[in-house]
Amino acid sequence: MKTIIVTGGTGLVGSAIKQISCNFADKYNFVYLDSKTCNLLNYEDTLQYFIQQKPNFVIHLAANVGGLFKNMEHPVQMLEDNLMININVLKCAHEVKVEKLIACLSTCIFPDKVSYPIFEKDLHLGPPHFSNASYAYAKRILETHCNSYNSQYGDNFVCIVPTNIYGSHDNFNLQDAHVIPALIHKCHLAKQTNSKFIVSGSGSPLRQFIYSEDLANMIMWTINEYNEKSTIILSPDEKDEVTIEFVARKIAKEFNYEEFIEFDTTKADGQYKKSVSNQKFRHLNPNFEFTSFSDGIQKTISWFNQKYPNIRK
Ligand SMILES: NC(=O)c1ccc[n+]([C@@H]2O[C@H](COP(=O)([O-])OP(=O)(O)OC[C@H]3O[C@@H](n4cnc5c(N)ncnc54)[C@H](OP(=O)(O)O)[C@@H]3O)[C@@H](O)[C@H]2O)c1
Repeated sequence: MKTIIVTGGTGLVGSAIKQISCNFADKYNFVYLDSKTCNLLNYEDTLQYFIQQKPNFVIHLAANVGGLFKNMEHPVQMLEDNLMININVLKCAHEVKVEKLIACLSTCIFPDKVSYPIFEKDLHLGPPHFSNASYAYAKRILETHCNSYNSQYGDNFVCIVPTNIYGSHDNFNLQDAHVIPALIHKCHLAKQTNSKFIVSGSGSPLRQFIYSEDLANMIMWTINEYNEKSTIILSPDEKDEVTIEFVARKIAKEFNYEEFIEFDTTKADGQYKKSVSNQKFRHLNPNFEFTSFSDGIQKTISWFNQKYPNIRK
């Protein structure tokens, strides 16, 4: 039996790994780490934890993560926390000689001005969007850091680049959350108070969204079957890109609150589009079946309704 440490084990993606881990129970012992178990900002604590757990694999998800508002209000924390967590985790994974480490980047760190669709090779071709530059540069350094360990010491540190993720156990805080959990929470509150469901921005930006359990399955595929060290984008197909307006209307429909939706065009839209190509993944895994957006949203809202108010918010 091999041990996998999942950093960020209580987060959106870590919880999805927990959800699907029963399919791998004969092969792996999963250890989920959060900030209470081990503060990854502290090198000594991290090293002690890694020495104690003796992991064969690390799925490194822990990060200081947030939506547009958090990125614009707290750029120093987004840069420093993420740099520090990543340095500590990579150094310790190297120290205890793990077989493989999966490090998590994000499609929002690609250059702002780039031709579409975006491929893995485009990551460092230009500055990221100004709104999340600190987070983006910390994540870009993570890729350089993994490549450095691979080339200097022969480690097996692989970067994955997921697109926007949604699902149960997300952060639904109205200030800090990503667009889908924020809209779900907003729509719930609007319905409770018989007020308008106001969506920030025009609704026109395009986004690709991946359901958290699909990503968890793809991460296990990178552990088990992806035998390269080069960075790989993990995203649904380009044809499944949707507008924020489509997302908002879908959520409103699930809450039976469609006629109360309104778009506040005085608010910022963020980057208009950041369409990525999953060609590399599709070439290696042509039959992977993604959860439809409709099913994913239904499952997420049903989880939200069951758990509310005991959710991260
Ligand atoms: N969410 C998205 O749409 C998205 C899109 C692309 C890429 N990603 C990437 O995917 C990964 C997972 O994201 P997520 O949405 O699952 O994140 P999340 O829900 O915000 O969870 C973050 C996790 O990191 C842990 N963590 C934060 N600081 C820590 C510290 N100092 N020490 C130990 N643990 C710490 C948290 O533990 P506590 O609960 O104890 O704080 C939590 O388990 C991240 O690397 C993120 O950059 C996310």
